[in-house]
Amino acid sequence: MADLANDPWAGVAAEFSFVPGLTYLNTGSEGSMPRRLQAVLGEAVAKWASSPSQAFFFDPLLDSKETANRARMAAFVGARPQEIVLTDNTTMGLAMVIIGFPWRPRDEVVTTQHDHFSMYSPLGVAASRVGIDVVELPLPSPPERPAQIIDAFEAAITPNTRAFCFSHITFTTGLRMPVSQLCALARSRGIATIVDGAHALGMLDLSLHDLGCDFYAASGHKWLNGPPATGILYIRDAQTNPWNLAAVISEKSASVGNGLTIAEALQKRGELGGPAYLTLARTADFADTIGKRAIETRILTLSDIVRRRAAELWGEQCLYSVGTAADTDAMRSGLVAFLPSRDPLRAYDADFVNGIVQTLVQRGIWVLCTQFPNAAGDTTRQMNALRVSTSLYNNEDDVDRLFAALRAIYD
Ligand SMILES: Cc1ncc(COP(=O)(O)O)c(C=O)c1O
Repeated sequence: MADLANDPWAGVAAEFSFVPGLTYLNTGSEGSMPRRLQAVLGEAVAKWASSPSQAFFFDPLLDSKETANRARMAAFVGARPQEIVLTDNTTMGLAMVIIGFPWRPRDEVVTTQHDHFSMYSPLGVAASRVGIDVVELPLPSPPERPAQIIDAFEAAITPNTRAFCFSHITFTTGLRMPVSQLCALARSRGIATIVDGAHALGMLDLSLHDLGCDFYAASGHKWLNGPPATGILYIRDAQTNPWNLAAVISEKSASVGNGLTIAEALQKRGELGGPAYLTLARTADFADTIGKRAIETRILTLSDIVRRRAAELWGEQCLYSVGTAADTDAMRSGLVAFLPSRDPLRAYDADFVNGIVQTLVQRGIWVLCTQFPNAAGDTTRQMNALRVSTSLYNNEDDVDRLFAALRAIYD
């Protein structure tokens, strides 16, 4: 039973409407929505339906310019209103940037072997259409210190390097990348930074200006627990559009720099998910009421418990995410990936790890199986991990249930 009087997080969890018996540890794939925001969404849909054209042209919270909701999300992530576009998801934001970027043949992009298909897919289009070269760096799982990653990016720079494209938090192992250092390095060499922030919005206390990236795409429907199909795209200094991005999904691409900013043009794309964007802005209010820093601390504290329990059962070497040592602190996130075995070779046995994940799901415990190349970058033999997400609605009992079920699977 939730102890609402003594535990404020029990009060937060009570806002959500998971079916009884479900242990939801897969926010990395999709978050949920608090009941009160489900109600906001329903009311916004009803308002839109009551006079659709009035809503589209004139309602300050539902209109097609999205001025108010963009401003709210900008304040939430430490950006200026003009720098934010409301999108359907991270995939859309990354595609807007990568397909709209003025690549030249032989431009080089440095990314990693732990990035998402949403990044590789538009890069693949640019590679085949324009002839850019994409360099995928291997990453150790886990790295020992952030400098290992920064050095690898620096070593990959050539006179043709045009962009660094990487995740803030990798979906494979939950590695939090040294974003501000990578962006500073890129900036000092005239290289653009395109960051996939799918897992950071709502998990971390974000300030995009402090991170220093040029472009940042994120999901509203994962860790922030906004409505399905919501996200944001950040474009640094969108008023001047320093990278000369073209508006590829827009009714007004010809107006960029000629009446409209790049962000305004990318927002002007026909009928939008107005009710969902209005609700996304209210979700930011919900998170601010709890406190972004408090949410980040809560999520990391729970993920530390997962790290410790896994290491107790299968040894520290079972962790693909960083452990709890102080010098890896900055690389922690709310995603923890590990091999539920003491035999490191079982990492290459997809059936073994997948089988455990499927059994857990059948028992009402949602986690995910992720795949990634080893530190040597061998793409022919993928390693497999069990990935656990601990979100603001989870608690230590959820972690206990996960590990009790894992022990039971082995008995
Ligand atoms: C790192 C990463 N990037 C992008 C995505 C795609 O997110 P969206 O559904 O918001 O497009 C995911 C989804 O899991 C992800 O893990």
